[in-house]
Amino acid sequence: MSAGLFVTFEGIEGVGKSTQLALARDYLVARGREVVATREPGGTPLAERIRELVLHEAAEPVPASAELLLMFAARAVHTENLIRPALARGAVVLCDRYTDATYAYQGGGRGVPDRDIAPLAALAQRGLEPRLTLLLDAPVATALARARARAGRTDRFEAEQEAFFERVRARYLALAAGAPGRIVTVDADRPAEVVAAEVRVALEAAAAGAR
Ligand SMILES: Nc1ncnc2c1ncn2[C@@H]1O[C@H](COP(=O)(O)OP(=O)(O)OP(=O)(O)O)[C@@H](O)[C@H]1O
Ligand SMILES: [Mg+2]
Repeated sequence: MSAGLFVTFEGIEGVGKSTQLALARDYLVARGREVVATREPGGTPLAERIRELVLHEAAEPVPASAELLLMFAARAVHTENLIRPALARGAVVLCDRYTDATYAYQGGGRGVPDRDIAPLAALAQRGLEPRLTLLLDAPVATALARARARAGRTDRFEAEQEAFFERVRARYLALAAGAPGRIVTVDADRPAEVVAAEVRVALEAAAAGAR
């Protein structure tokens, strides 16, 4: 059985994660790979139900602790029921957000301490780590303008102020500085095809490393 490859896409709202993930999927499928394209929170029916709760609850406040636990509940379900089986088959799993997003949003954005996040990450992931994380980075104003120009309902995070996203972006960049072997930062403030070319180079390097 050939080795699977676990790749995650990270970055703030509107930076181009979904766009780049779709382009990467098309590229890998054209090269004959089985690709599982998925997202967090969500990715399985149960995890998508948790996504709905965590992104769109409006009737009562969601404490940061509950938000954290819901994110990891969804992640545990997704990891066990979809990601691990796909990797065991030898598929490439392209995931739109994973645990780095929890450190960036619940940690950097909401101020939850890392010591509260780390044990939950260990519990949910049971040793699974992305081989490659593509951090798409662009100024907050650029990314939010893209996100807001796009149709769709606004979730609890998109409703946040710019200062929140500045903290999230700063935490993402700090995570990248701390994990240079895994996280590749890509300047996303360029045309999508230019960004995609750089993403492909990183994917090829990760795939070569997995063989
Ligand atoms: N490099 C780019 N230059 C200009 N516009 C882009 C670029 N990449 C994506 N876009 C556009 O910006 C919008 C947001 O892109 P996309 O949905 O891929 O972002 P995202 O990171 O997935 O956002 P979210 O976190 O909200 O899901 C879309 O309308 C998309 O077509
Ligand atoms: Mg998206």
